[in-house]
Amino acid sequence: MTTAADLAWWQKTIAYEVYPKSFLDTRGQGTGTIAGITARLDYLASLGVGAIWITPCYKSPMVDNGYDVEDYYNIDPSFGTMADMDELIARGREKGIRLVMDLVFNHTSEACQWFVESRKDRTNSYADWYIWRDAKPDGSEPTNWRSIFGGSAWAWCEERQQYYLHTFAPQQPDINWENPDVRRALFDIANFWADKGVGGFRIDAITYIKKPPVFADGPVDGEDGLSSVHDATANGEGILDFLHEFKAAVCDGRDIFTVGEANGVDADELGDWVGERGVFDLLFEFSHTHVPMGEAEIWCKPATWTLTDLKRALTASQKATATNGWYPAFFENHDQPRSTVNFFQCDGTIAAKAKALGTVLLMQRGTPFLMQGEELGYGNRAWLSIDEFNDVQTRGEYDFALSEGFTPQQALAACNRFSRDNARTPMQWDASANAGFTTGMPWLPVHADYAEINVETESADPDSVLNWYRRLSELRRSRDELLAGSYEELVPESEQIYAYRRAGEKSVAVMLANLSDEPAVYDAALVDGLTLLAGTHGTTEPGELRPLEAVVFGTN
Ligand code: GLC
Repeated sequence: MTTAADLAWWQKTIAYEVYPKSFLDTRGQGTGTIAGITARLDYLASLGVGAIWITPCYKSPMVDNGYDVEDYYNIDPSFGTMADMDELIARGREKGIRLVMDLVFNHTSEACQWFVESRKDRTNSYADWYIWRDAKPDGSEPTNWRSIFGGSAWAWCEERQQYYLHTFAPQQPDINWENPDVRRALFDIANFWADKGVGGFRIDAITYIKKPPVFADGPVDGEDGLSSVHDATANGEGILDFLHEFKAAVCDGRDIFTVGEANGVDADELGDWVGERGVFDLLFEFSHTHVPMGEAEIWCKPATWTLTDLKRALTASQKATATNGWYPAFFENHDQPRSTVNFFQCDGTIAAKAKALGTVLLMQRGTPFLMQGEELGYGNRAWLSIDEFNDVQTRGEYDFALSEGFTPQQALAACNRFSRDNARTPMQWDASANAGFTTGMPWLPVHADYAEINVETESADPDSVLNWYRRLSELRRSRDELLAGSYEELVPESEQIYAYRRAGEKSVAVMLANLSDEPAVYDAALVDGLTLLAGTHGTTEPGELRPLEAVVFGTN
């Protein structure tokens, strides 16, 4: 049986996603800086964080806040300098925190030198570094694919008299992985960062890198007459060959870990992607986030769902990684709304929901990934008009909702519910102006509740969400079964309680969370002989859970 001693450093730690633009501004410019992250390493250490996933901070025109990379070898001046980055890597290592860089390898920015050359004509040395196609005989787009951010996935280039493919925004042209020179250039970039001593990579949108051998129209699935590019290209045949090449060229022999963003890979395919036979150490798959949003991820048409749907998805991912690979447990990231809104359909305070769901997350088998602010218990922000949003996808979803016949109010409500900007509002450090994030004008509005929900206020309150997270983080670190033990779901049929048992070589823990706003009961025999290790409501009566109460029992 596996014990904590058998695990790698990244399996025993907590990973924390920093959205640098919103973390801490050390220059009064309204956007965050790399130096701001370095300044708060002690805070992250106090949470038990051993890896920081930093979303792209390379030179970029920022159409998609850095996911449109102009130059992978330089830091965007708005964030600071390469010296700031080296400092962050070095200071982090001193404190036992490794940096995880985001590799955006499905596409570049249109401002990237490769694309600037590629678009000039059909014969230059970068001519086939992107996905170029001729128009249909009538001059229209090569296929009817809809980009993920809305509108056609093709953009016209006057110079070449051809279209190029963009899975995301038109300013994010897709790279042609079929060309070995392209792959070599990408692997060189990853090696450049690995040589700097980063602890790993998150690999962005990786399921889209292998395009189908034949480009054909897909079934029309919207009033816009288009067809989802995701359905046409995600997880294409042969993709793993590219990724095995990446692994051999970049990862083998290094003490780093990789986590792929793999929308389109299901739990039952995980064996080919992670572990012994796989290409990454971890894989973000989205079966559980699809429960409230729906698999099609169309915000104006969310799914109807129950707690058992959510539990089934999470348990399937646990089973798929039980003996092979490792699970990155997450409820939030910079592409999701806040989990306290996303995964609840009942009443109750945001703080109570945050503690209950945080318990579910931190006691899971796997490496928990937190989104900045999740540990403080954020809700979604109330957005009053579409103009308040910054996110390119939000604007696309709004327009799509209108084209589907929804009213502007309904389209705005869908954006309030699902917008990615909910996760991207500035980090709340204290109760001073702009929550201590900046002395300038924040690039996105600070959440209205910042006077109560912030690091300083919550640090001083023993009952805060933040201190609950710290407590569970400590508990997790101190117990073998919570790090390395097995996962077995309990009461799977309950529509109120999510519960599981973690069993290690010599110890056991049972986590039970009432995710409803009604009292709930369970069979007290499930915790017989175990002691209460932590409870959101203080002492508890075995067999009963108050609304939104979460408890962890364990062997002594
Ligand atoms: C990934 C990122 C997202 C970005 C997209 C395009 O899904 O997480 O933020 O917009 O890729 O790079």
